[in-house]
Amino acid sequence: MDAFTHRDGRLYAEDVPLARIAEQVGTPVFVYSATSIEAQYDALASALADMKVGICYALKANSNQAVIATLAARGAGADVVSEGELRRALAAGVHPSKIVFAGVGKTAEEMAFALKAGIHQFNLESGPELELLNEVAGRLGLVAPVAIRVNPDVDAKTHAKITTGKKENKFGIEIEQAKSVYARAAALPHIDPVGVAMHIGSQLTDLAPYRAAYRRMADLVKALRAEGHDIRRVDLGGGIGIDYRGDHTVDLAGYAAIVREEIAPLGAEMICEPGRLLVGNAGVLLTSVIYVKQGTAKRFVIVDAAMNDLIRPTLYEAHHDIVMERAGAPESPHPADIVGPICESGDYLAKDRVLPELAPGDLLAVKSAGAYGAVMGSSYNTRLLAPEVLVRGGDFAVVRPRPSYETLIGQDRLPDWLSPTQP
Ligand code: LLP
Repeated sequence: MDAFTHRDGRLYAEDVPLARIAEQVGTPVFVYSATSIEAQYDALASALADMKVGICYALKANSNQAVIATLAARGAGADVVSEGELRRALAAGVHPSKIVFAGVGKTAEEMAFALKAGIHQFNLESGPELELLNEVAGRLGLVAPVAIRVNPDVDAKTHAKITTGKKENKFGIEIEQAKSVYARAAALPHIDPVGVAMHIGSQLTDLAPYRAAYRRMADLVKALRAEGHDIRRVDLGGGIGIDYRGDHTVDLAGYAAIVREEIAPLGAEMICEPGRLLVGNAGVLLTSVIYVKQGTAKRFVIVDAAMNDLIRPTLYEAHHDIVMERAGAPESPHPADIVGPICESGDYLAKDRVLPELAPGDLLAVKSAGAYGAVMGSSYNTRLLAPEVLVRGGDFAVVRPRPSYETLIGQDRLPDWLSPTQP
């Protein structure tokens, strides 16, 4: 479902006019639709319903606690990659028995925190990490449930910066080394090797790489079982792509069929870790036009959102549709770059975009901003992080307010040898 549609010439988030949110909360602001998040979760859950697959939402896509809690209420667990995310998942009400902890650089402190919390599983990415986890668990008198993340060396055919399943990527243990690492895991007293995990990349719109990777994983599971290991769990990773342009919907039934054919016959408990799929199209970044500047070669629409709010266009050359809040304005004959106020040429949200004629004060919605938007925000140029709003039906709530300048600037400390200069 698209929760952001025009009605009587104005853009709504569910039943709330975006203009009302802009008026009450200000811009730039991220606006999420709870109903859309739930619909995406339900669509995935029903595609997988005939199999034993737990859905652990990858918090990295959007870790606002209101978003996590919306999904947790639906039955989702969490995939976390830091103590911070783990704390957020717990605070939002995700039961520890539904949390998996991934990432290549877990520290001893993070491991101890997760062990004490009693999480479901650690996804381990290297031999040294295995040794450290054994040591930390030993110190605490605990046993750590572990899945070995394997790098299946499959090209996910996505953007290079979000590909993870090739040998040249830092992630996972090479499939050739997996058996020896698994044997070592089985020999360690404070490790319970419960299974294997993989994740080949993000924003996958072609399902073929999943089939190739899952087939390799299934072969590995069989080989490990033949060596006497009791492989009870397979973590399928995340990465299912979304439609950023309104021209391609990812076929969840097709994805489920691949799981059913390649992994389900192993009879193991399965986990999948979707992030973007659940929240990406459930959010927009609402921004106001500050100026329209016509050069001889280009037209620039300068808006109050910038690369610090949404870094995807400049970091990944990502496309985000942009729509005007008011419908029906005549289209401008001049394509424009939609740019922010930050002092960098890379500060743009879109290039050469054909939009209606715009004037200062007009509102624009940058679509598909629910995933990897606010979470990748920064306060570069001492800009305030954009607030976040969650809509449900005709109601909305500010789920992260805009910070004050006092809070932002007040975090700095002057050393003794400097005293504040008087204005
Ligand atoms: N599991 C693991 C181990 C991951 O590394 C990731 C994403 C996910 C699950 C969730 O992937 P998803 O379902 O959201 O594709 N900032 C980039 C995306 C980076 C993804 C990193 N890992 C972007 O804006 O496109």
